[in-house]
Amino acid sequence: MENSSKYSAFTCAQTQTNAIVTNTFVTDTKVPFRPPQHLPAWTMLQQRANELANTSGLALFAADPARAARLTLQSGALYADFSKQRIDAASVSALLQLAAEAGLEGGVRSLFKGERVNFTEQRAAAHMALRGSCPAPDAKGSDTSAVRSFVHALQRGELKGASGQTIRHLVNIGIGGSDLGPRLAAEALTPVSSAPRLKVDFVANIDPRELDEVLSRSEPATTLFVISSKSFSTAETLANAEAARSWLRAGLGDSADLGLHFAAVSNAVTAAAAFGVAADRVFPLPEWVGGRYSVWSAIGLPLMAAIGESAFDAFLAGAGAMDAHFRDTPFERNLPVWMGLIGLWNTDFLGFETLGVLPYAHGLRNFPAWLQQLEMESNGKRTLRDGSTTAVATSPIVWGGVGTVGQHAFHQLFYQGTRGVPLDFIVPVGDDNPRQCGLVDNAFAQAAALMAGRDLDTARAALRQRGMDQAAAERLAPHLVSPGNQPSTTLLMPQLDAFHLGQLMALYEHKIFVQGWIWGINPFDQYGVELGKDMARALASGEGATPDASTASLMAMAARFRQGG
Ligand code: F6P
Repeated sequence: MENSSKYSAFTCAQTQTNAIVTNTFVTDTKVPFRPPQHLPAWTMLQQRANELANTSGLALFAADPARAARLTLQSGALYADFSKQRIDAASVSALLQLAAEAGLEGGVRSLFKGERVNFTEQRAAAHMALRGSCPAPDAKGSDTSAVRSFVHALQRGELKGASGQTIRHLVNIGIGGSDLGPRLAAEALTPVSSAPRLKVDFVANIDPRELDEVLSRSEPATTLFVISSKSFSTAETLANAEAARSWLRAGLGDSADLGLHFAAVSNAVTAAAAFGVAADRVFPLPEWVGGRYSVWSAIGLPLMAAIGESAFDAFLAGAGAMDAHFRDTPFERNLPVWMGLIGLWNTDFLGFETLGVLPYAHGLRNFPAWLQQLEMESNGKRTLRDGSTTAVATSPIVWGGVGTVGQHAFHQLFYQGTRGVPLDFIVPVGDDNPRQCGLVDNAFAQAAALMAGRDLDTARAALRQRGMDQAAAERLAPHLVSPGNQPSTTLLMPQLDAFHLGQLMALYEHKIFVQGWIWGINPFDQYGVELGKDMARALASGEGATPDASTASLMAMAARFRQGG
């Protein structure tokens, strides 16, 4: 069950010092850093967590009937209800004190001033500049006018392929941040149409099946591939780009001008040109925008193509509204600050290991995948600003799936399993179509039932009411018991449109900043993933150290399978 003796899953070196550590990296923010467990509020929070560990959500409501109003916040039309979390006024005030002691206000100022909060790479993390919310640290890559002209030409049918036919299909080839954000937003916002003027697809995996599926419904003469890769060096993307080129060549002939079927979003102009993309079709993005924060930049090209420029601008405006809220609202009413603090409370004080994200919208089916990269690639780290190792747990394992589909699959564990699972319900209300209303009611019902649970007496009485005899009801009732008390946040928005999606995505971006700041880690690098990439390269090339015995025998077995053995 839940574990309040923090950070049990890994053996982790304890930070040795209680002293304020001079920050050797963030030289320009001047905000001193102390590991969070050395801040006075940390101890208060530990005490409060022990007191609340066995308090049920219903008991919290009974003790404070006004908590539904007290523990809700609003930013524009985005409404967040935290009252089903295992928090009370004292824990919220201690969490706000923790934010103050950690110098979060200075951190937010540094972020918006474009200081080098990405301290290991000595860069700003100024994705908010792309939504007009702060100055760009430098102009390079932030102007999207070339992207916009290209998308206009595409949408007006002015771009022709090698055989003179109009381009009607855009296939984005990219992975990670060069895929997940635009894919999520395009799925959520593309109007449903049986005959779109421009079809947009996304391919990420090196598994040939994904590209093959898209190619099977594509025409070489009318298809444009956008190679989206900030680095233009990502193995999966380059392999798929090569495969796309071979497919075009096979369909259009060796002498066709294949350059008419490619564009790229990348900062590696030379590498893109070497691949065969014309210089005026390579769209850069700023270096101060990390991959998983890049949907707002030129990486949004396929999204803009799918939804149009004005919807893309509404998407930016929604994110900009959340930036302004985060930057200017006192922490007592600040939505990303609360999201970050309550997540930290669940992770570090109540000992929950995961965060389940449950969008009640088919259009948001890739929201959990997008959030996994955003949250786990950002805060799935252990080394602090001062070079020491964290003594507290950092990012939870983020996972999820859409409602109501998940209700018929994994919700059983929430009701009767042995684990506490904090959940974010994301609920666009939409119109009064009865099926839409049913969807929304289901989200509310799940959050309510998971908090309330069902005790033995209620279970027994329900069975008796159904006509079951006393003995049978006694036998079966324990199997109907549900302890409840699963904490959740419900995020409600009027509808799933470009503005509100932008707001929602920026909310999570800033929540991650809040947590990373307090933990003292850098949310904006990703050195960890390089290890796996190096290993994949070494195995593919046969160079480097001999693989371990397990890996060597797996490789040998795979070779046998390939030969039909
Ligand atoms: O491997 C991780 C990563 O670098 C992500 O951070 C990034 O979003 C993704 O790969 C794709 O990178 P690129 O856009 O350079 O191909």
